[in-house]
Amino acid sequence: MNTVITGLQWGDEGKGKIVDYLTESADVVIRGQGGNNAGHTVIAKGTKYVLHLLPSGILWDNKINVIGNGVVVDPIGLCIEIERIEAQGIEICPEKLLISDRAHVVLPFHKELDAAREISLGDQKIGTTKRGIGPAYADKVNRCGLRMADLLDRPFAEAQITRRVSEVNEILAKYDLPVFTAAAVISDTYKAFERLRPHVTNTIPVLHKAWKAGKNLLFEGAQGTLLDIDFGTYPFVTSSNTTAGGSTTGTGLPPTAIEAVIGVCKAYTTRVGSGPFPTCDEGLSEYLHNLGREFGATTGRPRGCGWLDTVLLRFACMVNGVTGLAVTNVDGLDEYDHLKICVAYDIDGTRHELPPADRSFWDRAKPIYETLPGWKEDTTACTSYDQLPPNAQAYLTRLSELCDAPLAFIGVGPDRKQTLKA
Ligand code: GDP
Ligand code: IMO
Ligand code: MG
Repeated sequence: MNTVITGLQWGDEGKGKIVDYLTESADVVIRGQGGNNAGHTVIAKGTKYVLHLLPSGILWDNKINVIGNGVVVDPIGLCIEIERIEAQGIEICPEKLLISDRAHVVLPFHKELDAAREISLGDQKIGTTKRGIGPAYADKVNRCGLRMADLLDRPFAEAQITRRVSEVNEILAKYDLPVFTAAAVISDTYKAFERLRPHVTNTIPVLHKAWKAGKNLLFEGAQGTLLDIDFGTYPFVTSSNTTAGGSTTGTGLPPTAIEAVIGVCKAYTTRVGSGPFPTCDEGLSEYLHNLGREFGATTGRPRGCGWLDTVLLRFACMVNGVTGLAVTNVDGLDEYDHLKICVAYDIDGTRHELPPADRSFWDRAKPIYETLPGWKEDTTACTSYDQLPPNAQAYLTRLSELCDAPLAFIGVGPDRKQTLKA
């Protein structure tokens, strides 16, 4: 079954864990968007792995992992990541990891441009991961980006980098940020590219061959629906289509290849970076942070935490065409007496069951809550859905009803094994 795994909130829903879990029955795992702004945590056999650009299928033997055309690849960052994961005992060979020759390259100056933009925005800053994602996608859309295939043509790439460096330096100088020499950018980029070169190929025919041969394809989304450039809380979003559609434009596999869409959400809501967050709750944030939870896998920033928001989830299920929900971190709520679920927003006296586009509405959106009793029991040792306390099952059933999507998987802990079929 060719399945898209997509985030339904503001990222960090536990996509990596669900992808890793489903990889056992998959043949190919494919990333189609985002870059190393992503941080996907997988805990398997007692070891913790954090993946940024590598698909989460990389931890399994005999699976093909593809970084698709829609991803923006930082070659230097990817080399560091490969070294780190190899040091953890995972072999990464060209048969196991394929990188699209159409993928755009994040160059060192994109990160500084990211920083410059954040400085210029002042208190309206996006709170980006500073991985150069926005500027790299902007260059792609502006038709002045460099693709992996372009790096294979060194004279062309050198000329392009030289031209871009002189334009970029003018911007960076305005913000007192370090400027670049084209020679240094070229040399650092090619040093990393030489390591990656055996992995770079035309991934599209490889994927089509696998599809036609009936292999199981797993599409790994990065970020989440509310960070989608079209559907998210614009402008506090990332720069790609994080929703299911990004899995086709970002891989070269057509929509007809997709058979299922698993939407991943936490049993509560988290957000890192700036932007609206109607159900944010200081008490819940403090509680989860005190448990050592909810610190960003990429930047280490504490994530804001809040109650489950089914206005957002309902919308996310619609735009992704979710066929099954994977609800993670149910165990995070084990100790709470009462749990709130946001069922709608009150905006100036009008009830809204879907999120608004008008950014001024967000400040006035007051959550309308339903309160459900907690279960006050440890769920982390549950090995089947039936073992979950009745109140936990009732909470999940209500979540599913409010989103109009069936439950598929439940997470009761970070380990690969702590995933239950609903
Ligand atoms: P991703 O970016 O969507 O892959 O999610 P992250 O890895 O950034 O953040 C999810 C966090 O929750 C990580 O620390 C995971 O190890 C952890 N996690 C995932 N599922 C569960 C779960 O069901 N219970 C608990 N306690 N932690 C989980
Ligand atoms: P995963 O795949 C959570 C957020 C940043 C910021 C906004 C824009 O681990 O779920 P960017 O660097 O993309 O330009 O930042 O998006 N952001 C994420 N938040 N999880 C992520 O990825 C994120 N990737 C980007 O914090 O608010
Ligand atoms: Mg993450």
